[in-house]
Formats: sequence, C-alpha cells, structure tokens
Amino acid sequence: MRKKIVAGNWKMNNTLSEGVQLAKDVNKILTEKAPNCTVILGTPFIHLADVVRSVDNKLIKVSAENCADKEKGAYTGEVSAAMVKSTGAEYVILGHSERRAYYGETDAILKEKVDLALANNLKVIFCIGEVLEQREAGKQNEVVKAQVENALFHLSAEQFANIVLAYEPVWAIGTGKTATSAQAQEIHAFIRGVLAAKYGKQVADDTTILYGGSCKASNAKELFAQPDVDGGLIGGASLKAPDFYGIIEAFN
Ligand code: 13P
Repeated sequence: MRKKIVAGNWKMNNTLSEGVQLAKDVNKILTEKAPNCTVILGTPFIHLADVVRSVDNKLIKVSAENCADKEKGAYTGEVSAAMVKSTGAEYVILGHSERRAYYGETDAILKEKVDLALANNLKVIFCIGEVLEQREAGKQNEVVKAQVENALFHLSAEQFANIVLAYEPVWAIGTGKTATSAQAQEIHAFIRGVLAAKYGKQVADDTTILYGGSCKASNAKELFAQPDVDGGLIGGASLKAPDFYGIIEAFN
C-alpha cells in the first residue's frame, strides 16, 4: 500500500526562530491528535537541523526544498545532498516549478539532483506540472509525462521506491485557484499509467502521488478522496499550524 502524505513546503518564509516555533506548534497538535498519514515539513536549509531536533521523528519527517546538482567542492552558496542528509532530514523536494522557472532548473539538472539525493539516502518529492498556457492547449499530459521521463526514468524500479511525485499545476500555485478534484484525479491516474507502462503495475500502485496548488483545509478532503490523489504538497497553508493541521485532518 502506498503512503498517504501531507507535506508542507515553507518556501522562502520564516526566520530560524519562527520556523522552529511553527514546527513545534505542528508537533504539539500531532502529539494530541495523531495523524493518519505521513507528515513532512519542507523547510529552508537553515531550519533543517533545528527542526529535526524540535519534532518527534515518529510524527514528523523533515525535508529540504532543494539540493545541489554537484556532489561537493567549489560551488559557493550551494548545499549538497550529503549536507541535507547530515541534518537528519529524510526528504528533499526537487523540481518545484519555482526552481524550474526562476532558477533555470532543467530536466537534465534535475536528473543529477535526483541521483545525488538517492545516493545519499534521501527520499525525493519530485514536482511536475504544466503552466496555464499548456493546460489551455490541452498539453498537460504530455508535459508531465516528459518531466517524469526526462528526470526519473533512468532509475531502477528499486530506486523508484524512494520517489514521491507531486503534481502541481503551475496555474494553481499560490493563486487560490485549485484544480478541481476531477482534474486532479484525471491527471494523477494518467501519471500512474505512465509509471505502470515503464515499471509495471506494482511500482505504479506503490508510488505516492501528491497534489499541490492552493490546497487548503476546505478543499483537501475532496481532493484526497480521489483514488489516485494520495495527499498534498502544501505551500501557503503550511505556514500556520492550525491551517496545516486542517489539511492533515482530511485523512482522519
Ligand atoms: P500553495 O499551496 O501556496 O498554492 O503552493 C503550492 C506549492 O507550490 C507547494 O509546493
């Protein structure tokens, strides 16, 4: 059975003390009301080690939001997968549309990052999704298929067990405009089919596929009720503990 996951992506928000407080707030709520899913906090690099120490590892896993495409060395300002792993974080988000759009991350660069993350025993939350223009042209399926193929299909089935996919239509991110549950289900089922064609039904059935894009407590239940939507990757609504818990609760 594939994992149900609710993962926060704080993006570039929160000072160190604010982030640690938020993690403690989420931890406190989950201590009182146990989650029915895996809960992950995706934080900026500087928060990782402190957040890992501030939460109960049985209740909350910690993720970076990025890692370098190089192993180590003279790459000023970069943070390697090994460094992320050394903080106690277990996951890394790769391929977020903001990284692709603002920092020029191509499928080829992402492939390198995925390989380094897996080599360092991190699990990868790999983001895919089309922009509005592509959706309007009916090209969303071919866009996400190419993103998956180009960055991930060199992996073995065994390696693929460490990949979580996050379908995040770019037009839904931070816009308040969520994909309908029918739109989400349709493309999640398509993505699972792409995985099945490459790796077989078992791998496809075992792969968690998250939805992201203006997901909040008021729409999470309906989205997560879709058979191929296994949880969410949450931006804005992960920045306040009660809002984030409202989404986690959708699985109760
Ligand atoms: P919002 O939930 O703010 O739309 O962001 C989604 C996202 O980009 C998560 O990675």
